Amino acid sequence: MVGADPMPGRSPGREHTGAMDRIIVRRSGPLEGTVTIGGAKNSVLKLMAASLLAPGTHVLHRVPRITDVACMRELLGSMGVRTSWIGPSSLEIVVGDEIEPEAPYELVEKFRASIVVMGPLLARCGRARVALPGGDDFGPRPIDMHLRALEDLGATFTTAHGYIEARADHLLGTRLLLEFPSVGATENALMASVRAKGTTTIDNAAREPEIADLAAYLNRMGAVILGAGSSTITVEGVDELHPVEHTVVADRIEAATYLAALGVAGGELTLVDARHEHMDMLIAKLGEMGMRISPDPDGIWAMAPRRLRAVDVSTLPYPGVATDYKPLLVGMLASADGVGIVTENLFSGRFRYVDELVRMGADIRTEGHHAVVRGKAVLSGAPVRAPDIRAGAALVVAALKAEGETVVADAHHIDRGYEDLVGKLASVGADVRRG
Ligand code: EPZ
Repeated sequence: MVGADPMPGRSPGREHTGAMDRIIVRRSGPLEGTVTIGGAKNSVLKLMAASLLAPGTHVLHRVPRITDVACMRELLGSMGVRTSWIGPSSLEIVVGDEIEPEAPYELVEKFRASIVVMGPLLARCGRARVALPGGDDFGPRPIDMHLRALEDLGATFTTAHGYIEARADHLLGTRLLLEFPSVGATENALMASVRAKGTTTIDNAAREPEIADLAAYLNRMGAVILGAGSSTITVEGVDELHPVEHTVVADRIEAATYLAALGVAGGELTLVDARHEHMDMLIAKLGEMGMRISPDPDGIWAMAPRRLRAVDVSTLPYPGVATDYKPLLVGMLASADGVGIVTENLFSGRFRYVDELVRMGADIRTEGHHAVVRGKAVLSGAPVRAPDIRAGAALVVAALKAEGETVVADAHHIDRGYEDLVGKLASVGADVRRG
């Protein structure tokens, strides 16, 4: 297969063997030192898909070596796109004049972000055949808003045998109004409208920093996009786009994970390349919990007390507290001082990790999309299983305040979104290892 470099410990298509698919954590802290934050998973996957829009050689820098990137490389490879690492975190993407506009089930079912190839394929080829997506199991995750936006731009859809067949002889600019500021639907609409005839406005658009990063990449390619990062994005369709070089925005969820580890274990850290301004609401919350966090010439400086104070948290679309931070916050509250009420407003089923934390002695009750967390001074190490990317990281973080040994199985989920979580944590004093 074109340009498939094996991932550290993981390669797409190689099922997860037991060996090394566990993370073993012992109580640790205080943490001290510097961690460099990589590029955002939730941006780079969309930038890779956007490359389909312009034949030629693209180069992305600060690309994390995570499993989802390997999966997207495999997906692009199946369309005839050649990708190869040309540096520790630089990826070359060579898009030919001909691409096969199909995303097969066996590749799509591995990661949900694959759905964002729909927009660029429709814009580039006027047709796309994409398997219905898989990914993390947070309860129902429909794609109705993606399809409605693309339909409003002029596409037609039929669904058969688990595949969506999309066609668009012409994409015409128009006003799109999203029922909810969906990240994925905004991205698909953006990538379809950059080559549509005329002007498109996307109202109630998602405002996540990853959307602004995608728009910046597309504008470098010759698109004309205004307002990305706000609720109203305007796109002037163009006839042609060209390949470019771009550095992926820093991963705010990865940065939040190290802040969470610091909060649980105590100490002082510098997060190089982290973007303070992309994490305002979370940093305010962590401040209420007793942490001190400020921008630093290199990124973010942070310090945490021996024990956090409990707070209440509700998840919301950006700039609210991101749903991806929530498992980490619950992991922090499990050993904080006091009671915290956590409310999930985006994904109804995103509490699957709570039973694993309770196995570690945490006192957490869930009711619908609320969780009540009564903090314990110390948790107890136990064998647990990572149900998905962020929940897996939250178990590792919570285990930094657990007596004895915690063994987090199914660590391959964590590898989907984190490059070398164990190595980075160990480098600042955490007692963690693969096993
Ligand atoms: C992106 O998922 C991220 N994934 C998620 O991060 C993140 O949790 C989510 O945005 C919210 O911030 C990637 O970028 C790859 P949405 P996405 O469309 O695009 C509903 C991680 O751990 N909805 O903004 O799938 C949906 O069910 C992952 O890195 C519809 O109802 O999220 C949800 O309730 C997990 N119909 C809400 O909107 C639609 O057509 C937000 O979903 C689309 C979405």
